[in-house]
Formats: sequence, structure tokens, C-alpha cells
Amino acid sequence: MLGEIKRRNLPKTIPDGLLKENWSAHRKEMIALFEREEYGVTPERPENLRWTKEIQRDNVGGKAVHTLVKMSFDTPMGEFAFPFDTVIPNSDKPVPMFLYISFHPYGSGHYLPIEEIIDGGYAIAVVNYNDVTKDTEDNFESGIAKMYPRRNDGTDWGKIGMWAFAASRMMDYIQTLIEIDKNRIYVAGHSRLGKTAIWCGVQDERFAGVVSNDSGCSGAAVTRGKKGEHVVHITKNFPFWFSANYQKYIENEDSMPFDQHQLLSLVAPRFLCVGSATEDEWADPESELMGAYLAGEAYEMLGLTGLSGDIEQTVEPGEKRFDGFVGYQLRKGTHFLSRHDWQGYMEFFGKHHE
Ligand code: GCU
Repeated sequence: MLGEIKRRNLPKTIPDGLLKENWSAHRKEMIALFEREEYGVTPERPENLRWTKEIQRDNVGGKAVHTLVKMSFDTPMGEFAFPFDTVIPNSDKPVPMFLYISFHPYGSGHYLPIEEIIDGGYAIAVVNYNDVTKDTEDNFESGIAKMYPRRNDGTDWGKIGMWAFAASRMMDYIQTLIEIDKNRIYVAGHSRLGKTAIWCGVQDERFAGVVSNDSGCSGAAVTRGKKGEHVVHITKNFPFWFSANYQKYIENEDSMPFDQHQLLSLVAPRFLCVGSATEDEWADPESELMGAYLAGEAYEMLGLTGLSGDIEQTVEPGEKRFDGFVGYQLRKGTHFLSRHDWQGYMEFFGKHHE
């Protein structure tokens, strides 16, 4: 794979000569670049967060406490409110948690094997992304989108940014929970919500780690030379996910002043786990692996191991590279967030907290 990486002419993960002590300043500059050019500018943390809580009867057979939280806060256009669920296993010590940005309301749809996650010792906070703003072209009229006036200068936030912002507000709430181990909260998502999890975890350093499952284009996969989806497709089908500036790179990806491995690197020195599926050609597993591997260069600069294993060899289906701060797993099959994927993510984070 190394030869392939060179051929793709990717920007360097980090500038030559960058020193450890300048990492935090570099991260800030790069976040500003990704805001401007790809996802749009994230508003300031809002004032006056408030919430109500309601314990739910459905408690995973008595193994956990399930709470419905209704959160609200002030925005430039008044109050905005959205609901989410937390499910926390019964335990006499603080437990780790996944904040899962979901396609579905809690308890419906696939992708979230709640009992297995609880049995694995993890709590979960789940938001249905459509409760934050609809995943449609709606002229930014639904949910949180209409609460922040737009400048129309190319840098306004897209919906990925809005979902990520809501996840950070959930994190504000989670910080108040004594049942949760604050050093072990991980943000997770699949596909478009894997892109969202990355963008959220990059910006919000309270997350100890990020899970990107099959996030592909504009997620974990490097864009230059990838197979499947490109900027031209994603901005045509889902322009509202991004800042308008991202459209500059349609059929012009070599001029992007960044690529996705640089975004992933901004998770450093925290944990990052990337999962792919062999038949997910639209996302392109090899380009996701490349993103994870190259992000590792930032970790190496910081004196940590990035992605472990021999990168000259391709990863085999079923293989897990979990020894470094950057993990990678490849599942046989199609675009999906499976039980097997979740088991892998729990194994990865568990391994680093033995
Ligand atoms: C589409 C889109 C992808 C996205 C996926 C999903 O296929 O092109 O970028 O990841 O939907 O969210 O399932």
C-alpha cells in the first residue's frame, strides 16, 4: 500500500518540522480550514443549557437505567430543543460510554445492538439525527438549521456540522453524570453519521475517542485517488451536508488544501477506530485504511503509535489492527454497522484501558 499512497500525491499529514508543543495551535488552524472549506463554521457553545429527564420503563431487562432527556438552549433565533436517550448499565463504578449519532429513534431500526453494548459494560447516549435537523434539502428550514442566521459567504455550516454540534451539547449534559467515566466517552456513527462522528470528535476534545464506521467519502477515506464516491457525487446528492465552499473542489480535488487523513489526524492524541466493509465500494475500504494509516503520522510525531501492523500488506477481511492509538478493522460484507463491528469497537477501547 505504501507505493499506492505515494502515487496518490496526498498532502502531508502534518507540516515538516512541526513540533509536539505546536500541535494544539496546528489543530486549531486545521479545524478552521476544515470549517471554511468543507463542513462550515460551527457556532459558539450556546448559553443556558437546560434539560428534563424521564426514566423509561424499558430497561434492558433490568440491567440498565434508560432515560429520555429533553435538552434545550438559547440560540440567536430563540429556544431550540431536541430529545435523546441514555442507557446506563447498573454498576457500582463509573462506566465508559458511546455517544451514538443514529439514523433512527432509540429502540427502532437496525445498527444498535443495545443489550450487547450494555453487556460489554458500556453506556450509550443516542440521538436520532432527524430530531436535530432533517436530512433533506429543506433550505435550512428544519430544526436547528433555522435557528442560526446564514451569512451566505460559502462558509455556513452544513447538516453534518449541525448533527455534530448537537452531539457536543449531549456531551455537555453527559459531563454532569456521575455514573459515567468522563475519560472514556467515545463518539460513534455509521456512514454519513460516521463523517459526523469524526467532525464532532475532532472539534470536541472531551471525547476520548472516535468511531468511524464505513464513513467513506468526506469521512475517513482519503479523497484523492479513491474509488466510488467523490466530491462531485456527494455535493450533488447532499449539498446541504457541507459548506458551499466544498463545491469548489468538484472535479478539482487536487486543488483541495487538505485531504481526509489530515482531518483524522486531528483526533490525536486521542483514540480513533476506523471500520470498513469489504464490499463497500462506494466508501472504498482501501482509502479508509489509507486515511487511518496516514493519520497515524501525527500520533508518531507526538510519540505515540498510530496504526499498528505491516502497512506493505493489505488488511485481510476479519483482521483487526488494534495495538496503536489508531485502530482499523475490516469486516467481510456490505455497507452496514453490524454487531461484529460494535464488538470490535468495544474490544479496541477496552484493550487500551486494561
Ligand atoms: C450515500 C452517500 C454516502 C453516505 C451514505 C450513508 O451513499 O453517498 O456518502 O455515507 O449515503 O450515509 O449511508
